[in-house]
Amino acid sequence: MKILILGGGGREHAIGKKLLEDYHLIQLYFYPGNGGTSIIGINIDNHHTVLDLGIFAKKNAIDITIVGSEIFLLEGVVDIFQNFGLKIIGPHYLAAKLEGNRIFAKSFMKKYGIRTPKYDIFYCYEKAIDFLKKKTNSIAIKTNGIASGKGVFLAHNQNEAENALKNIMIKKKFGKSGNQIIIEEFLQGKEVSIISIFNGKNIIPFLSAKDYKKVEDDEKGLNTGGMGAVVPNPYMTNSIWIDFKKNILEPTLEGLLIEKLTFFGFLYFGLIITSNKVYLLEYNTRIGDPEAQALFPLMKSNFLNIIQSIFKDKDKEISIDWKKLCSCCVVLSSRGYPEKYESGKIITGLNSLEEPFYIAGAKREREKWITSSGRVINIVGIGNSIQEARKKAYDKVKKIQFDNLYFRKDIGL
Ligand code: GLY
Repeated sequence: MKILILGGGGREHAIGKKLLEDYHLIQLYFYPGNGGTSIIGINIDNHHTVLDLGIFAKKNAIDITIVGSEIFLLEGVVDIFQNFGLKIIGPHYLAAKLEGNRIFAKSFMKKYGIRTPKYDIFYCYEKAIDFLKKKTNSIAIKTNGIASGKGVFLAHNQNEAENALKNIMIKKKFGKSGNQIIIEEFLQGKEVSIISIFNGKNIIPFLSAKDYKKVEDDEKGLNTGGMGAVVPNPYMTNSIWIDFKKNILEPTLEGLLIEKLTFFGFLYFGLIITSNKVYLLEYNTRIGDPEAQALFPLMKSNFLNIIQSIFKDKDKEISIDWKKLCSCCVVLSSRGYPEKYESGKIITGLNSLEEPFYIAGAKREREKWITSSGRVINIVGIGNSIQEARKKAYDKVKKIQFDNLYFRKDIGL
């Protein structure tokens, strides 16, 4: 069996390790991959476009492709692979707009009565400024396109809001993704990530996860791709699960079926809990990173079987078994991330590190591990409680060293 995984972060390394754990006779390919994936599979290079990747997959008789990163989805990789008659896990281009186009996603939520914060859409700066002048509460300003995860601004006063608007709509700091914007009611609360698998008929949620998005402790500083994660999310109580299913998951499924936006892939619900109600902030059409690194070590079911069953028989019920444990993932990064940082630093302690851990931005050079990106390594602890998992993760963190190593100290607190 040959499986191609698209992406080069800790999430892709975690998917690959889980698949090999389930069935060791797989030949894994990664694009672009990283130093970790080069040990468990083959990193392919020189295949830059999604069309090139399709040709590679066809020529090499890849059985299944799993899309990790949204970049490929928004370039239409699924449509291209399907045209080649290849099996691929991920949404086609139109469904990927649920992640790639916020106005499309919000309109979908509104049409199907999915609970989401109130919002208004603006296509011109002057109208947006006029609207802002009447606002006294905190708001979120979002670019229509996802702008590499950088297009969301929280404004607590008029000045902050006007600055954000100028940067997006006048200075065009986020290019075309800021041609249209959403101004959304700001909800204070606890964020939850629910990642699920969609087989074109049902949406089956994974365990709940909590992502730590800001670069500094106490959720301060700039937004990042994620500095850590815990599973399960302690705020996702039984009553919130019921609320989520009724007001978000079920109407989402109804909308996907009616709009014919069905696909085989992952759907990630970015939620916020406030006053005992859960709201949908956004959809992603892939597994989260670093949520994947905290989720896969707890998955008891055979992930390969789940994926294969989707292609075999979409009427077959999918159930996923999980270990009754908790996990905590701490992201080790290069100081300065998500802005400027230095790479090329020698990493020590990795070769004797206890599993699970996942490589993100590190490569192998002449038997040495070298940093190569902002997020470098994901260290995971598993325990009977989040506190125990957290302790195990941070004990392992102490074993790793490199110049300019930076990590949050409050993951799982
Ligand atoms: N951790 C958030 C994301 O993957 O988008």
